[in-house]
Amino acid sequence: MKITINQASEFVGKEVTIGAWLANKRSSGKIAFLQLRDGTGFMQGVVVKAEVGEEVFADAKTLTQETSLFVTGTINEDTRSPFGYEMAVSGVEVISESHDYPITPKEHGTEFLMDHRHLWLRSNRQHAIMKIRNEIIRATYEFFNQEGFLKIDPPILTGSAPEGTTELFHTKYFDEDAFLSQSGQLYMEAAAMAFGKVFSFGPTFRAEKSKTRRHLIEFWMIEPEMAFYKLEDSLKVQENYVAFLVKAVLDNCRLELDRLGRDITHLEKMVAPFPRITYTEAIDLLHKLGFDDIVWGDDFGAPHETAIADSFEKPVFITHYPKAIKPFYMPEDPENDQVVLCADMIAPEGYGEIIGGSERIHDLETLQARMKDFDLDQEAYSWYIDLARYGSVPHSGFGLGLERTVAWISGTEHVRETIPFPRLLNRLYP
Ligand code: 4AD
Ligand code: MG
Repeated sequence: MKITINQASEFVGKEVTIGAWLANKRSSGKIAFLQLRDGTGFMQGVVVKAEVGEEVFADAKTLTQETSLFVTGTINEDTRSPFGYEMAVSGVEVISESHDYPITPKEHGTEFLMDHRHLWLRSNRQHAIMKIRNEIIRATYEFFNQEGFLKIDPPILTGSAPEGTTELFHTKYFDEDAFLSQSGQLYMEAAAMAFGKVFSFGPTFRAEKSKTRRHLIEFWMIEPEMAFYKLEDSLKVQENYVAFLVKAVLDNCRLELDRLGRDITHLEKMVAPFPRITYTEAIDLLHKLGFDDIVWGDDFGAPHETAIADSFEKPVFITHYPKAIKPFYMPEDPENDQVVLCADMIAPEGYGEIIGGSERIHDLETLQARMKDFDLDQEAYSWYIDLARYGSVPHSGFGLGLERTVAWISGTEHVRETIPFPRLLNRLYP
C-alpha cells in the first residue's frame, strides 16, 4: 500500500510504502535512523540490522542526503517525536541517487542559502513556513467567501499607478507604455460598483530600492473593496479577517508553529477588536517614548512603527494620517482637512505595516481637483473617473501584504523566507 507521511496515523501497525527523500541520517553499528520527507511531512525511519539483515542494513547506511527512495515498513506510534509516528523499515529501494548535496546539516550563510533557494525549499523550516503561507491563503478564501465577497482578478499589466509613479516597473505593451501592477485597487473599485463586496489576491510589483526585512520587489496582496462601507466598517472587516487568519493557523498548523518555535500564547491573544489610535496620537506617543526628531507631517519609519506596536499587545490601527503623505484617492476628514480617512494596521513585534487602507473619494469634483493637485493625467484615468460620474457611492477598501502577514504569524524574521522564490533588490536568481 502506497501512502504519504501525513497519512501515517491511519496506518499504525500496517506495512506501507512511502516515496520519499532522505533529509538526514544517523547510524551506528546496529541501527540507522533515516529522516524521511515526502512533501507532506517529515518522519523517522528506523532500520535495525538484526531485523533487516546485513545487506539491507549495509545499503541503508550508504544512502546519501537527498537520495530519492521508496521505503517500505510498518508504521508505529512514536511518543518521543512531535510528529508522533515512525516507520520500522523493512526495505529500501533507491529511485535516484544524490551526491554532494550543497545544503548540509551544518550552518550556512544567508546568501548561500538564497543562491540555493530551489533546494533550500526542501528543508524542514521552509516546509513549515510554506505550510503556514498556504493556510493563510486557504483561510483568506474561506473568510471572504463566508462574508459574501466575490473574488475578482484585476489585471497585472496596467496603464495606471495608484500608489504614485516612483516605484513602477515599466515595460512595452506593443507600441504603448505599460506598468506591472503595484496595486489592483482602482480596478477593484470598479468591481465594487459592479458587485458590491469584492476581493482580489494576486502579485504586485514595487521597484523600491529598499533592502529591509519587510520589503520585497514582488509580493502578493489581498485587496478587498466594499461599496457603502465607511472607514470604521472597513476596520471591522480588517480586524475580523486578521483574527480569523491567526486562528486558522493556530487550529491547523500546530506542528509547523512548534517546529518554528513560535510563541503560541502571543498568537492566542489576537482576537478582535484591535486598538485604534490616530496619527496625531501616535506622534504624541512617539514623543513620550523619546523620539524627539519626528514632527507632525512626517511619515513613520520602521523604528517608529515598532515603538508604536510595542505599546500594544495586538495589531494597532493608526488612523487619520496627514493628507500630504497619502495617495490621491483618500478623502479628507470632514472635521479636519489636513488629515484623510485612512488607516494602516501595524503588526506586533516589529513586523511593521501589514495593511494599508482608506475610504475613497467618490465625489466627482473633489476627485478631479485632487488628481490635478497630484498632476495625474486625467485622460489615462478617464475610466476611473467614470466611477464617480455614474452613481458613485461611499466605499472603502484595503490591501493586506501576504508575506508580511506570514512573517508575523510564523515568527519569521525576514520576508525573504515567506515566499517561495523571493524577488529582492539585487536578486532575480533562482
Ligand atoms: O500600503 P500599500 O501600498 O497600499 C496599497 O497598495 C493600497 N492600494 C491597498 C488598497 O487599499 N487596496 O500596500 C498594502 C500592503 C502594505 O500594508 C504591506 O503589507 C504590503 O502591502 N506591502 C509590501 N509587502 C512587501 N514588500 C513591499 N515592498 C510592500 N509594499 C507594500
Ligand atoms: Mg502603506
